[in-house]
Amino acid sequence: MRKTVLWVLAILLTGTSLRADEGMWLPSLIAQRIGDMQAKGFRLSAEDIYSVNQASLKDAVVLFGSGCTGELVSRDGLLFTNHHCGYSYIQRHSSVEHDYLKDGFWAQSRAEELPNPGLTVSFLDHMDDVTAVILQGYDASMSEAERDSVVRSNSAKLIEANTDPSQGLKASVESLFYGNQYFLFVFRVFRDVRLVGAPPSSIGKFGGDTDNWMWPRHTGDFSVFRVYAGADNAPADYSPENRPYQPRMFFKIDRRGVKEGDFTFVYGCPGSTQEYVMSEQVRYVGEVSDPRKIDLRTRRLEIQKKYMSQDPAVRIQYASKNATLANAWKKWQGEARGIARMKTVASKQAYEARFREWAKGTRYEGVVDRLGAIYARRNPSYLAYEYYNETVRSIEIVQFAAGILSRLKSGSPTTSLIEAFYKDYYEPIDREVFASMVAAFNEQLPATFQPVWLLEKLGRYSSVEAWRDSFYAETVFTDRSKVEALTKADIGRLLEDPAIEMSEAFLAWHREQIQPVIRETNEALRPANRLYMQGQMAFEKDKAFYPDANLTLRVAYGHVAGYEPVDAVYYRPVSTLKGIIEKDNPDIFDYNIPQTLRDLYAEGGLEDQPVCFLATNHTTGGNSGSPVLNADGHLIGINFDRVWEGTMSDIAYDPAICRNISLDVRYLLFVIDKIGHAGYLFDEMVFVD
Ligand code: ARG
Ligand code: ASP
Repeated sequence: MRKTVLWVLAILLTGTSLRADEGMWLPSLIAQRIGDMQAKGFRLSAEDIYSVNQASLKDAVVLFGSGCTGELVSRDGLLFTNHHCGYSYIQRHSSVEHDYLKDGFWAQSRAEELPNPGLTVSFLDHMDDVTAVILQGYDASMSEAERDSVVRSNSAKLIEANTDPSQGLKASVESLFYGNQYFLFVFRVFRDVRLVGAPPSSIGKFGGDTDNWMWPRHTGDFSVFRVYAGADNAPADYSPENRPYQPRMFFKIDRRGVKEGDFTFVYGCPGSTQEYVMSEQVRYVGEVSDPRKIDLRTRRLEIQKKYMSQDPAVRIQYASKNATLANAWKKWQGEARGIARMKTVASKQAYEARFREWAKGTRYEGVVDRLGAIYARRNPSYLAYEYYNETVRSIEIVQFAAGILSRLKSGSPTTSLIEAFYKDYYEPIDREVFASMVAAFNEQLPATFQPVWLLEKLGRYSSVEAWRDSFYAETVFTDRSKVEALTKADIGRLLEDPAIEMSEAFLAWHREQIQPVIRETNEALRPANRLYMQGQMAFEKDKAFYPDANLTLRVAYGHVAGYEPVDAVYYRPVSTLKGIIEKDNPDIFDYNIPQTLRDLYAEGGLEDQPVCFLATNHTTGGNSGSPVLNADGHLIGINFDRVWEGTMSDIAYDPAICRNISLDVRYLLFVIDKIGHAGYLFDEMVFVD
């Protein structure tokens, strides 16, 4: 009782504290938040999080590949990320004989660690606010195009000055707050990254797409890699002579576990959010785009599922494609429902009404209506573009044909593309997708937003299926040996191939009818959104704003917490091995655990082995694999997901329901030891407990 009173008091006093776990903050500016972090339990300083003078936590965090996060956990470059982040690499090393996806993989020595051509990890060397440099030469009388060219040329100079391939240094300039601020990011990019281990999918992807985005969750979503460097500890191309990279910092591991209320902190690379868009754009996402795309993907997923369940080879071939497809499909469902449930469109409209009042007579007057008009002009074309992406561009043979043609034109080799394509291609799936997607495109979009070429084509056949049958009978691209024999001299003839013809017809339609509207409205949106962002910051002077995510390094902090998904139900924040055994079912692919795990459990004493936990950290796609740290900056978990009911956090964060899902580091250690028998890896880790 006394506690409740104190809580209410605390909330009343701080006012904004209810929203306080929202936010993805820039590490170099974290001094502005450190007071709040410390008040909530954090025991380190801003310099510990980010420093250019000394080793800091940022030196142990990487952008893994181009869309995930990873963290260093030993002085020999050992790295943790998610299983789903390493998935396509694990798949590439897998075949029916060595099915590392299904059975897992553990290198028994460093010599057995597997190289992954093309995979990089990027460490942030430093970041700086370069707004003044980027806008040098710009004045307010300039047009948007002139401003763009100033920004572009200043950025190019800055990037050039900060890039040094011999040191693996790569720079980028990113716009924040819709171009109200610019930051320079300089990364050290390592390109010899090897696979050390992965649990079997029955652990790493336990629950599959059924449990994806859901709580209670029991997925052991991790994989282990190692970063290698040249003799000088600098980035180098793969070479057997390379040595494990010695990082400036790595995370120590705390095995004492978490409980509700504990401070947590996620350090990683969130990909993309749109927290400050106007109501009309939220309406488009929640009421138009998401529902339409969900329907298109449902059809493709059903087709894939049918063939995958019939044949284990097809299951492996389509495993990664299917997971990627299903992932966004399910996220969009949660997002659309979340937007509706939170009434975000209405609350943004109410906000906009207050903003309009306040903006009268200022430079912000009219900006909301201007934005509304631009979105209204843009969205029908944008929807056609999204349909094009989700339908025609999902026909694998058409995409492949386009890829081969462009390589032949530019004279680049086609071998690796041919290899990769046929390894994972199953024609019966593609044929069904073709018929289903072409029909959906044709039936669901207004005729004025379709290529005339398509309408004529469909007019010539009795049905989509009839067109499809002649299409696959005629195209050369279903025949590997014929594709291998193609040379530059065949380009003229290829233009008559149905797959090329289709890809070219749609490209031309997109270029001539769709893209111009999108480009023109994007150009109009840029200054309008920049002004509206500025306006929002002026309107709410006392609010702390964080920039939308753009795959740059961020800090999100909060605490371990459960939530109420629906009336009368409370989800506790920690899941255990007991729940895995409850879900275990040898007849259901997603829930069929390894026999070893059943046997271990039967021996007793493992009921309370923690598996995953929930917290209020504001995360998004790209945060997968991020280190989850405790108040002392020690590793307690690995972020891998959010709860379904809260996926609208990319647009609107609800502190009552938005939760990130992390793997408890103790389950990772348990799996390495008891399932992978790779406990020797512990020798290089440091435990603080
Ligand atoms: N939902 C998580 C994220 O967006 C995990 C996805 C991988 N898992 C899966 N079953 N598809 O990336
Ligand atoms: N699963 C996501 C990722 O791969 C994380 C999220 O969207 O919460 O980055």
